[in-house]
Amino acid sequence: HTSLLLCPHRPVLGILHFLPPPAKYGGRHTVTLIPGDGIGPELLNHVREVFRFSCVPVDFEVVNVNSALETDDDMNNAITAIRRNGIALKGNIETKHTMAPSVKSRNNLLRTSLDLYANVMHCQSLPGVQTRHKNIDIMIIRENTEGEYSSLEHESVSGVVESLKIITRNNSLRIADYAFKLAREKGRRRVTAVHKANIMKLGDGLFLQCCREVASGYPDITFDSMIVDNTTMQLVSKPHQFDVMVMPNLYGNVVSNVCAGLVGGPGLVPGANYGNAYAVFETATRNTGKSIAGKNIANPTAMLLNKMQSQILMAFGDSCFFCFLQLHTADIGGQGTTSEVVQTIMRIIQSGGQLTTEL
Ligand SMILES: *[C@@H]1O[C@H](CO)[C@@H](O)[C@H](O)[C@H]1NC(C)=O
Ligand SMILES: *[C@@H]1O[C@H](CO)[C@@H](O)[C@H](O)[C@H]1NC(C)=O
Repeated sequence: HTSLLLCPHRPVLGILHFLPPPAKYGGRHTVTLIPGDGIGPELLNHVREVFRFSCVPVDFEVVNVNSALETDDDMNNAITAIRRNGIALKGNIETKHTMAPSVKSRNNLLRTSLDLYANVMHCQSLPGVQTRHKNIDIMIIRENTEGEYSSLEHESVSGVVESLKIITRNNSLRIADYAFKLAREKGRRRVTAVHKANIMKLGDGLFLQCCREVASGYPDITFDSMIVDNTTMQLVSKPHQFDVMVMPNLYGNVVSNVCAGLVGGPGLVPGANYGNAYAVFETATRNTGKSIAGKNIANPTAMLLNKMQSQILMAFGDSCFFCFLQLHTADIGGQGTTSEVVQTIMRIIQSGGQLTTEL
């Protein structure tokens, strides 16, 4: 059983410092589509199907990245395509763990090459999805280009490995500023910096200090901080205390997965990566879902919500016409298939007519 809810006006996720490229001939936009691995290709096919069906004026330029190849040619093509189009939708690209430690994952390479320094995830309870806590509405701003993801590791003597975590003042200032700007734009009241500065006094200390400095420029927004271990505990026990959260890369990875779990799982939460020039949309938790690939049971919600949230799709206007969501695929305890969910969405579009009239 699947059903959809039409919801009233809901603002589209903010894209700060980012203006989508102007429409080309006939008001159409080109978006780079990177299917990726696992469930990526099938979910993105559904997105295309829904787009075609609803006459969204977007053409996809498909760029395949083959994670089995050793060369970076595919990746370079993908990066060039995103530079050209300004915007991309991607499935997760599998990271081969047999590669040399100095080799960055392709997902990471894409984020650093395009300087997509802010990862934004909006974790919101969805109507019809059964979860322990109701009415969760948390925005997570994760630093996306440095921190623990430097791939700078070496074995100094046999049996001793050093891994470098990089924190820079400039980058911490811009990610903190991003969080506060977004908070202000969205009418949020509080920003919480997540850290482990009691142990990583210099690195996380610098991050925290930068957040404090930026906070002083936003007297209308309350600033506080919380140690990462307490944060995860507080999230699962009292999630409503959180509003906007900002944090270094790895904590962002963990915390966003906890939050996705709070609202129903990875299939339901979209994630977006923004820099000053480009935007790349994906699912928030960035897993490839390999074990459920090709079985028609993956939940397409995150990918479809992504579409609703990209600025290019302002063609839809601000009215999120399908903040649907009683999508009972197996991940949230149902037996529905991906295609059933997609077909239901299309039926709604057809009967509502809202989408086509707005276009
Ligand atoms: C940080 O930003 C300032 C101002 O934009 C710039 O002058 C400086 O070189 C940057 N520092 C580093 C280490 O990149
Ligand atoms: C954990 O966070 C809560 C606030 O939500 C605070 O009251 C408590 O003191 C914190 N505990 C530690 C050990 O920092």
